Amino acid sequence: MARPAPLLLLLAAVCLVAAASAGGADAAERKATTVGVYELRKGDFSIRVTNWGAVIMSVVLPDSRGKLDDVVLGYDTIAEYVNSSTYFGALVGRVANRIAKARFVLDGKAYHLYPNDGKNTLHGGHRGFSNVTWTVKEHVGGGDAPYITLYYHSFDGEQGFPGALDVYVTYQLSGPYVLSVHMNATAAGKATPVNLAQHSYWNLGGAGSGDILGNTVQLFASRYTPVDAELIPTGQVAPVAGTPYDLRAPTPVGARVHLVMGGLSKTGATIYGFDTNYAVDGGDDVDAHAHALRRVAVVQDGKSGRSLELWANQPGVQFYTGNFLTADVKGKGGKAYGQYGALCLETQGFPDAVNHPNFPSVIVRPGQVYKHEMMYKFSF
Ligand SMILES: *[C@@H]1O[C@H](CO)[C@@H](O)[C@H](O)[C@H]1NC(C)=O
Ligand SMILES: *[C@@H]1O[C@H](CO)[C@@H](O)[C@H](O)[C@H]1NC(C)=O
Ligand SMILES: *[C@@H]1O[C@H](CO)[C@@H](O)[C@H](O)[C@H]1NC(C)=O
Repeated sequence: MARPAPLLLLLAAVCLVAAASAGGADAAERKATTVGVYELRKGDFSIRVTNWGAVIMSVVLPDSRGKLDDVVLGYDTIAEYVNSSTYFGALVGRVANRIAKARFVLDGKAYHLYPNDGKNTLHGGHRGFSNVTWTVKEHVGGGDAPYITLYYHSFDGEQGFPGALDVYVTYQLSGPYVLSVHMNATAAGKATPVNLAQHSYWNLGGAGSGDILGNTVQLFASRYTPVDAELIPTGQVAPVAGTPYDLRAPTPVGARVHLVMGGLSKTGATIYGFDTNYAVDGGDDVDAHAHALRRVAVVQDGKSGRSLELWANQPGVQFYTGNFLTADVKGKGGKAYGQYGALCLETQGFPDAVNHPNFPSVIVRPGQVYKHEMMYKFSF
């Protein structure tokens, strides 16, 4: 590593002094970029968010007997989020999911990304949006519709992606037991792929209460995108009818999880479970910009009586059943979550869309606005 030049050190010192003497605005800016934990509360419904990775750390609500539980996996400390590779609760980007061979061509130019999943790029590379500090723009913790807005400026060339990108996410308790997520992004100078996803791991019986194999899942999706052994789409958009992927009727996860391939372990053994992108019905017209919300999924947990209905405006949803969670992943309160200890429903564009012209485009050009809206409605 090169030693910093004395002139640079001097400049840095001058900048620090200038920041310290400028008072109010700079102090507020420093506070906004310090990693903290922020609560939103509406009666007995509450969530905690950190501006590290724009992570949802907890979602607490009653069950049918009035018992409060936290229904998302996570950790007790920010340090554990920083050190982890599970993406618990994170906002992933610039491009969520996989990009084959860590490359794509846009407007005739080839871009090379950081490969962090074998030869492929997963969730934006090794320093994706889930692995950076966001700026807290606004936080209203209580009242009728508490919310927090976080902002991240992604620089031109970050992890290999073209152009600077300004990204906002707002989490809001927008109604009784309703959590809304609004994401937007604008490209400053160059066209770029954008595919943001909220990566919460849901266990409606409570995080650490056991596996989700008894949950029933219904997905409003008649087609899915088949993948190869590295979980890269083949390019087909195939009907689910007549396959174990058909979840159009409410289906216990445990009845299907051993029938579908969820990837390979480090030793090359097949791991079973869903890690599958579905094409949400009615999403064909979608081109990654503003669209109406469509119902995506319903999850029910018989034991607690809790259910979750997910709405979003995206063409796809990645259904993941925590296939790679192992007993050594210890979360809140030191609990081991274990395989199938939660499920994820990540609404988004299709995986590797940048390399499949037949998939809905995820390209955002300067002047366009990427908008991703989600709504989680809970009942019990
Ligand atoms: C960081 O993660 C690794 C791998 O999961 C683990 O072995 C290690 O103990 C963790 N370190 C801290 C400080 O939590
Ligand atoms: C987060 O970024 C750091 C620094 O670039 C890197 O060492 C770490 O592996 C990244 N974590 C993940 C989960 O990619
Ligand atoms: C993106 O969201 C932020 C926060 O809600 C808002 O201030 C901004 O106007 C939005 N940008 C666009 C282009 O819609």
